[in-house]
Amino acid sequence: MKVFRKIKELAEWIHAHKGEGGSVGFVPTMGALHRAHLELVSRAIKENDVVVCSIFVNPIQFNNKEDLRKYPRTLESDLAKLSEAGCDAAFCPDEQEIYPGNETKHYDFGHLDKVMEGKYREGHFNGVAVVVDRLFRIVTPNRAYFGEKDYQQLQIIKEMARIEGHPVDIVACPTVRENNGLAMSSRNSRLTPGQRSEASRIYKGLLMARKALSEGKAKSVDQVIRDVVSFIDSSPELRVEYFEIADPETLLPVRDVRQAPGAVGCIAVYAGDVRLIDNLSFN
Ligand code: PAF
Repeated sequence: MKVFRKIKELAEWIHAHKGEGGSVGFVPTMGALHRAHLELVSRAIKENDVVVCSIFVNPIQFNNKEDLRKYPRTLESDLAKLSEAGCDAAFCPDEQEIYPGNETKHYDFGHLDKVMEGKYREGHFNGVAVVVDRLFRIVTPNRAYFGEKDYQQLQIIKEMARIEGHPVDIVACPTVRENNGLAMSSRNSRLTPGQRSEASRIYKGLLMARKALSEGKAKSVDQVIRDVVSFIDSSPELRVEYFEIADPETLLPVRDVRQAPGAVGCIAVYAGDVRLIDNLSFN
């Protein structure tokens, strides 16, 4: 596997592949790779001639300095995992390479970045969009792979790609879960064994909501939300920040039980100081 730290060298390598008519699959990550990332890589390998995975902890998408400081950084083992998975190239730039100046862009995503994650993590999605736009310009992928665990991020990236006119297929890949249902995330490595086990309530809560709404027995969406929040909050290890039942495209809250079966339940929960997110389609 090739490891590039400089844009120029990566761009030359990609140019050579594209010149031969090859398609490029791209998996952007912030490292601390786990099985869910490797599944994105495997899918990209199946669907493209070459695959590039980027590892860059993007400072401008962290609204919390402590979260950025504590974000797991495991470059050597990440590179070993990618190489074993059959990835063709890793791109591991430093901050200077991605952000040589102070310039930044401000996207208008309408309400897409004002709800849920956007409400609690100001500036987060703008930071994601800026870095993914830069990475798309560098890698020029035919297809880019993202996990559905970050459901709102996926909608933002689709919108950014539309605004910027990137000729790329955004491929959404299903959430990969631990045996207890906890969605895989790089942040899980910071959980204590007790928190990890209690965090299984997040997925259980989402399933509870889906069951209640799909059986048509729920009196109101608000009642379902309250039940799920109290089920999760009854664990001393967990604290729900929000639980929303949202339209899958507009992400606006769904209030009518009759519309809820087509909606997506999106949740953010603190386990200690580790913030976990998850979602489930009720379709
Ligand atoms: O999902 C992530 O890991 C990051 O938000 C991404 C898309 C790599 C941008 O930094």
